[in-house]
Amino acid sequence: MRPFDGRRVLLGITGGIASYKSVLLARLLSQAGAEVDVVMTRAAQEFVGAITFEAVTGRRSYSEIFGSGNTLDHIRLARESEVFVVAPATADFLARAAHGHADDLLTACLLANVSPVLLVPAMNDRMWANAQTVRNVSHLRETGITVIEPDEGPLAAGEGAGPGRMPEPEAIFAEIARILEPRGALAGLDVIVTAGATREPVDPVRFISNHSSGRMGVALAEAAYRRGANVTLIAGHLDVEVASWLRVIRSDTTRDMLDAVAESLPHSDVLIMAGAPADFRPRVE
Ligand SMILES: Cc1cc2nc3c(=O)[nH]c(=O)nc-3n(C[C@H](O)[C@H](O)[C@H](O)COP(=O)(O)O)c2cc1C
Repeated sequence: MRPFDGRRVLLGITGGIASYKSVLLARLLSQAGAEVDVVMTRAAQEFVGAITFEAVTGRRSYSEIFGSGNTLDHIRLARESEVFVVAPATADFLARAAHGHADDLLTACLLANVSPVLLVPAMNDRMWANAQTVRNVSHLRETGITVIEPDEGPLAAGEGAGPGRMPEPEAIFAEIARILEPRGALAGLDVIVTAGATREPVDPVRFISNHSSGRMGVALAEAAYRRGANVTLIAGHLDVEVASWLRVIRSDTTRDMLDAVAESLPHSDVLIMAGAPADFRPRVE
């Protein structure tokens, strides 16, 4: 049994350079059991082939609004989806969506859709900062659509350094998972998770510690996030990577970890202590 067996995701792809990353997103969703219906704009097909998405999802992909046999695709696809994601969402798509256009299959699906919508913009930093885009994004948010903030970082062909980059597929997957996870499981709860080993310095070079990798705490934090919690991970030293979308407070010693927990605890509903504080510290520091 996979976490999203049989869950329906409509994944819209628009004509941005980041569309290659959406192949990985489609694969993550499919591997988690979701049935992913890919809807591509004409421009998107200039960047990635429909066949690639079909191979990854095991389902046909869609792009044309007119054509015999697919006349009502825009209504059917919208009705069947449980979450409507567009990644990447170009500046042009955001503009058309904000103005209620339905001049291709993807925008028509969006207008006919009633499930939660997640738009993942990706574009040049000047396009993202342009007043027209800012207004379109703000209007879309007012209508209840979730528009994820783009990452900062190198943009296509050395053109600028963000913000405008599409977040990594794993981060988008986590946002989709928050929508697909059983409703209300941990929604709105503030959860603290401790993870990893603390270190007690003996001198400037040596320390007392333990073999904890932090894997369990990080996995618990990510799972709580996917179930809708507001998660704070209080991390000692970790041998595993932490997802960029988790809020992390770093702590070196057991005292640091204790202080961080004591500070966060009054504003929290749940504390999961999966961290491995060192048991001893030198008497003289
Ligand atoms: C090489 C290349 C890369 C592009 N990358 C982006 C991009 O990352 N974001 C964006 O908003 N537009 C980008 N564009 C412009 C869009 O492809 C163009 O606005 C197109 O009309 C978008 O159509 P669509 O929104 O229907 O997919 C790019 C164009 C080219 C030629």
